[in-house]
Amino acid sequence: MTVKLANQPLNTINADLTLEFVTPQQLMAHPQKELLVRAGFKAEAEQSCTLHEHRLMVCGINEFSDELFRSAAANAIKTAMNYAYTSLKLAQYGQTHFKALIEGIVLGSYTFDSYKSEPKPSSLVEVIFSNEDTNGSDEDTNDLEKILAQSLIISKATNFVRNLVNQTPYDMTPQGMSVVAQSLAKSNSLECTILDVNGLQDEKMEAMIAVGRASIHPPRLIHLSYKPKNPKKVITLVGKGLTYDSGGLSLKGATSMVTMKMDKAGGCAVMGIIKAVSELELDIEVHAFVGAVENMIGGNAYKPDDVLRAKNGKTIEVRNTDAEGRLVLADVLGYAQEKVKSDFIFDYATLTGACMVALGPYTTGVMGHNEALKQEWITASEQSGEYSGILPFNRHLKKLIKSELADVCNVSSKPYGGAITAALFLDNFIDENMKEKWVHFDIAGSAYTESAWDVHTYGGTGAGVRMTLEWMMHSCK
Ligand code: BES
Ligand code: ZN
Ligand code: ZN
Repeated sequence: MTVKLANQPLNTINADLTLEFVTPQQLMAHPQKELLVRAGFKAEAEQSCTLHEHRLMVCGINEFSDELFRSAAANAIKTAMNYAYTSLKLAQYGQTHFKALIEGIVLGSYTFDSYKSEPKPSSLVEVIFSNEDTNGSDEDTNDLEKILAQSLIISKATNFVRNLVNQTPYDMTPQGMSVVAQSLAKSNSLECTILDVNGLQDEKMEAMIAVGRASIHPPRLIHLSYKPKNPKKVITLVGKGLTYDSGGLSLKGATSMVTMKMDKAGGCAVMGIIKAVSELELDIEVHAFVGAVENMIGGNAYKPDDVLRAKNGKTIEVRNTDAEGRLVLADVLGYAQEKVKSDFIFDYATLTGACMVALGPYTTGVMGHNEALKQEWITASEQSGEYSGILPFNRHLKKLIKSELADVCNVSSKPYGGAITAALFLDNFIDENMKEKWVHFDIAGSAYTESAWDVHTYGGTGAGVRMTLEWMMHSCK
């Protein structure tokens, strides 16, 4: 589906269907009020009504906010895609809401049917925005063109991440992730280095190797970099890329194993972010590291009771092989900090079920030592349409991952606060000079959904992409 801007009044644009957003107050003065009201339309949020004889689709919206426009546009496009129309047009609702409308349309129209034997493509192929506002005034077309180009890059990068996350563990192995990285490097002129098991051994990344040892798909460490000429900042991104998490010998139960193909979502997110950064040509040097590993069972599986030595020399007592993401990240964080001296380091991981218990299934957990930096991220995520919340550290929680045997234990001694104790585990692998420059994002709840919500359809959501681009474009000057 193409989304474009036509610099002409809405009524002169040739399209099959017109989409309008209407508040309950506006409904009272609407030319089709009578028909709409008779059809039961009250202009409530998430309510829509189509008058086919008028080629008009109206969507309810309580107030003009980005959040409501984004999800209303997503709902509208999902409905319109079920009709037989080929094109849809709509007006502007103030320049500030244009980005939200584009994102709603591009993210809301996402479908993933690679595994359907008979995919049913929608006949809707074109969405056309007028530059004219609903009140008849024109918006600045240069501004609109710029917003359109940027929003399309960001939304398409989000859909790129969703496509990767949605692939089965059979189709998207660590090796598959590295192929994706290489082709992205080629198309977007990025540098790309990939380490196989030998490379990981040379780098003394014993924790990451241990997690992947029982899999027939050996691990890969991916490093993509985007290096503009005079970067304002250097940023390191690290992603958990578990192409499957069976739990290992601490095997997951049958029902909780289902969906664990999504455990690579952090790794996919950092690839999507660097894709968008390079297409937006931001003046920021970005390094994306992915620890791509499969956590399986087998005669050579790593075990509860093992002690592993991570890249930075710290020893880890393994008490649960299902807390594997933090082991992979321990090594990848160590490697990333050794290879690149950066201004900030951010990691993205579907790390803990506990994060979902704490914040619910839609919200990313934000953790780290720098209060002001975390607050910046909360603002950026709000602006971007992603949900996030801070989970606070404290010195008592830190004691819960002490080990009698090794430097640190991979699980907490208490069953509460698991998202925070996981982050405090990662803290052991953040260099002293990077403590205040590090933020950890637990996307366990936000990265995947089995029921549609907001702009998301079944499957990967692309969590992390929109909020990171927002933070980079506004806080990184
Ligand atoms: N990948 C999971 C976390 C997860 C759970 C993500 C559900 C998305 C949905 C992670 O590797 C894991 O298994 N964590 C354990 C940690 C525990 C053993 C301390 C968990 O959350 O139960
Ligand atoms: Zn696990
Ligand atoms: Zn996992």
